[in-house]
Amino acid sequence: MYFNSLLIFASFCLRAISACTGFQPEAKLNKSWNVTNETQTTSSSLSALRYQIKCPSYPLLRSGDQISPEEKAYVMRRKQEAKKHVIDLFTRFNIDEINSNFFDGYTPSIAISLSGGSFRSFLTAAGVLEAFDSRTPGATEYGCLGGLLQSTTYMAGVSGGSWLILSLMQYDFGPISELKVNGSWKLNSSSLRGIPELNINFKDSQRLLGDLPTDFPTVTVKTSNSSSSFMAYFKSLFRLNQLKKSNNEMDSIWNEALQFYETLHEEVSQRKQHGYKTSLTDYWGKAIGDIIFSSNGPHDMTMSGARSLSSFANHMLPFPIILTNSKNVYKSNEGHRRIFEFNPYEFGSWEQYLNAFVKLDYLGTKMLNGKSLTGLCTIGYDEMTFIAGTSSSLFNSILSHFWKYMARSKKQTYDSLKTILNVFGLTSCEDINASRYVADYALIYPNPFHGYGDTPLSSTVRNSTDLYLVDGGEDENIPFQPFHQKTRDVDVIIAIDSSSDVDSFPNGTNIGLTSSQYQNSKSFFVYDQKRYAVFPNIPSPETFVENKLNKRPVFFGCHIQSAYRYLGEASKYSNKTSERWLPPLIVYIPNTGYTTNSNKSTFKLSYEQSEMAMMIENGYSVGTYGNNSYDHSYFQCIGCAIIKRELDTSGRDIPETCRKCFKNFCYN
Ligand SMILES: *[C@@H]1O[C@H](CO)[C@@H](O)[C@H](O)[C@H]1NC(C)=O
Ligand SMILES: *[C@@H]1O[C@H](CO)[C@@H](O)[C@H](O)[C@H]1NC(C)=O
Ligand SMILES: *[C@@H]1O[C@H](CO)[C@@H](O)[C@H](O)[C@H]1NC(C)=O
Ligand SMILES: *[C@@H]1O[C@H](CO)[C@@H](O)[C@H](O)[C@H]1NC(C)=O
Ligand SMILES: *[C@@H]1O[C@H](CO)[C@@H](O)[C@H](O)[C@H]1NC(C)=O
Ligand SMILES: *[C@@H]1O[C@H](CO)[C@@H](O)[C@H](O)[C@H]1NC(C)=O
Ligand SMILES: *[C@@H]1O[C@H](CO)[C@@H](O)[C@H](O)[C@H]1NC(C)=O
Ligand SMILES: *[C@@H]1O[C@H](CO)[C@@H](O)[C@H](O)[C@H]1NC(C)=O
Ligand SMILES: *[C@@H]1O[C@H](CO)[C@@H](O)[C@H](O)[C@H]1NC(C)=O
Ligand SMILES: *[C@@H]1O[C@H](CO)[C@@H](O)[C@H](O)[C@H]1NC(C)=O
Ligand SMILES: *[C@@H]1O[C@H](CO)[C@@H](O)[C@H](O)[C@H]1NC(C)=O
Ligand SMILES: *[C@@H]1O[C@H](CO)[C@@H](O)[C@H](O)[C@H]1NC(C)=O
Repeated sequence: MYFNSLLIFASFCLRAISACTGFQPEAKLNKSWNVTNETQTTSSSLSALRYQIKCPSYPLLRSGDQISPEEKAYVMRRKQEAKKHVIDLFTRFNIDEINSNFFDGYTPSIAISLSGGSFRSFLTAAGVLEAFDSRTPGATEYGCLGGLLQSTTYMAGVSGGSWLILSLMQYDFGPISELKVNGSWKLNSSSLRGIPELNINFKDSQRLLGDLPTDFPTVTVKTSNSSSSFMAYFKSLFRLNQLKKSNNEMDSIWNEALQFYETLHEEVSQRKQHGYKTSLTDYWGKAIGDIIFSSNGPHDMTMSGARSLSSFANHMLPFPIILTNSKNVYKSNEGHRRIFEFNPYEFGSWEQYLNAFVKLDYLGTKMLNGKSLTGLCTIGYDEMTFIAGTSSSLFNSILSHFWKYMARSKKQTYDSLKTILNVFGLTSCEDINASRYVADYALIYPNPFHGYGDTPLSSTVRNSTDLYLVDGGEDENIPFQPFHQKTRDVDVIIAIDSSSDVDSFPNGTNIGLTSSQYQNSKSFFVYDQKRYAVFPNIPSPETFVENKLNKRPVFFGCHIQSAYRYLGEASKYSNKTSERWLPPLIVYIPNTGYTTNSNKSTFKLSYEQSEMAMMIENGYSVGTYGNNSYDHSYFQCIGCAIIKRELDTSGRDIPETCRKCFKNFCYN
């Protein structure tokens, strides 16, 4: 109880900061920053303190008709690298007449999607990718899927899934079989000291919030930069709770917790000193970074800077994509979503109302309609810790609940909050009630899309000087949208779902939501030359659970004649060579307990070494359907799924092996 109060209260303070800073008119950029004439980006140096340079001569912003030339080039080289692994894999699959000649003029485009779900998702996905990795001992034997990761073109993640992708990037695509044992992932550490032993589910948190004192103690403290008074202040806030525990125990917990926030505060205030607004995400991202990133490497590695690591430079890494949502756009029933993506080259959105991307290297540049206002460009904003935090504002639901609770409380509570904001050295709120953005915390300032776009829908993004990002899982907890862009030309999505629907296991709710969003809106299916985003029909959660589709891998979209609601539009294009495209087949793989109860709470932020090993081991079985033991055709059928779209569009016969196994694995 006590721990949770601490967490919630402290997090709340930070969140209030972002809500408030959003209303600051203009933060002046610091003129004394180093200004150079450098036109190269930081890709040569991994560690980039933010600073300004003369802007490059090429445009910083483009419309999102297609993938960037850089991505196109990367993917081409990636597929060249992948080809030999694909051939190895299919030699092992041994599917009828599918031999290496089949891949003469074609390499399949495989995408892996990792869902949100905090460390449960991180560890499950780690186990799945370990099983798919040819470097894992034993993974390339008959019946195994090692080499699938090396055959993969793209990977995308939300929240916990995005942490894994960022961690793999930062560790230069080190093998998971090593990372999991050599201390790279410090899940047992007390890095998140501010939130120790937190192992609650959402219901608990709601119950807990109900238990909070209705009246926080009022304290008057002079704001100060000194750490001692910062700690004293925090202590005094919780004096009431302290009575419940013995003093010694309390003191050591306090010291840990306070130190945690203090360290974070120091790190983040560097960003602030440079004239940037900060939000909870800056803090949260740093905390995640301590756990999943190398402690030896540069702590402030940027996502654009990671392009110079050898795994990326040599096109070994599946092209990584991190999803987030923007709160600038209101959710509506017409299927408007708010999905934004980070990739190593760009940040932006495919959503029709914006459909634009900016160079990731220059995020943080003050722009109007795509042009720098001053001729100067900011670099170093895209720190991987920041992006990790952005995709996973984990406490969003708890916090919005808490916010509502607080908004009803007394004036003196606000006064306390203001004081805390000052302690953190941030501006205080004038009126919390007036904030439209109370539930937001990741803040990109200045908004790179300011003044861009000309549709009514884009105006909420266009008009704002700040861009508010929230957990990518809010709209789509499994990344599908990046791979339903025709320009990415993906053949198959292998989707690992570690969502929490019932008892921290998935029940098909999330993939079903995505499907109905696509089908309810004209923007998402093929109705003109531009929009290609059809999604197969997905059964209701009831049907899902009844057929145990949440306990085993299942394919969606095999039979294009029946799996798609807008079949006509989808197939119309499949015969024309210039339009040779069908939406990707979906291989849906839910988290389920094979060797351990893998339904760990989303809010469990600390795992013992042995718990971590057990979760990863279970993930291995999730990816391999219990080491191929439940259905011996599983691993071959993954092969069939990979080449299905090539068979569809080239009009070739489906091999007998595939026709048989599709009966077991295709839902529609
Ligand atoms: C600008 O940055 C310099 C060096 O980091 C600092 O000394 C100065 O106070 C800053 N100015 C403002 C207005 O923030
Ligand atoms: C500015 O340049 C000086 C000299 O090159 C360097 O010592 C300093 O660290 C730089 N500051 C920033 C913020 O990059
Ligand atoms: C930048 O370029 C301008 C002219 O192009 C030159 O006058 C100036 O000295 C350069 N500054 C630096 C820091 O190199
Ligand atoms: C653990 O293994 C990874 C991948 O090989 C490597 O990058 C990392 O430096 C290793 N860490 C330690 C602490 O040995
Ligand atoms: C975490 O696990 C590692 C490896 O087993 C161990 O060396 C370390 O002491 C553990 N840390 C904590 C805080 O338990
Ligand atoms: C914190 O320190 C800075 C400079 O060290 C000072 O300008 C500022 O007023 C201090 N803030 C508070 C709240 O005391
Ligand atoms: C916020 O609104 C609620 C009711 O809508 C009101 O009771 C409360 O006093 C308001 N708080 C402030 C700080 O205005
Ligand atoms: C955006 O700004 C334009 C022009 O200032 C205004 O007409 C429009 O109503 C604004 N839209 C929103 C959503 O605020
Ligand atoms: C599936 O999960 C959702 C979200 O938690 C829940 O509302 C629904 O009742 C569940 N349905 C079934 C059949 O388990
Ligand atoms: C895990 O599932 C079991 C039932 O299968 C349930 O009793 C338990 O509460 C679940 N754990 C979490 C953290 O949801
Ligand atoms: C595409 O091919 C299918 C069967 O191969 C055929 O029924 C359909 O008419 C063709 N569509 C077009 C637009 O040619
Ligand atoms: C599958 O194989 C892995 C690696 O050998 C093992 O750790 C795991 O327990 C096996 N899973 C099952 C369900 O037998």
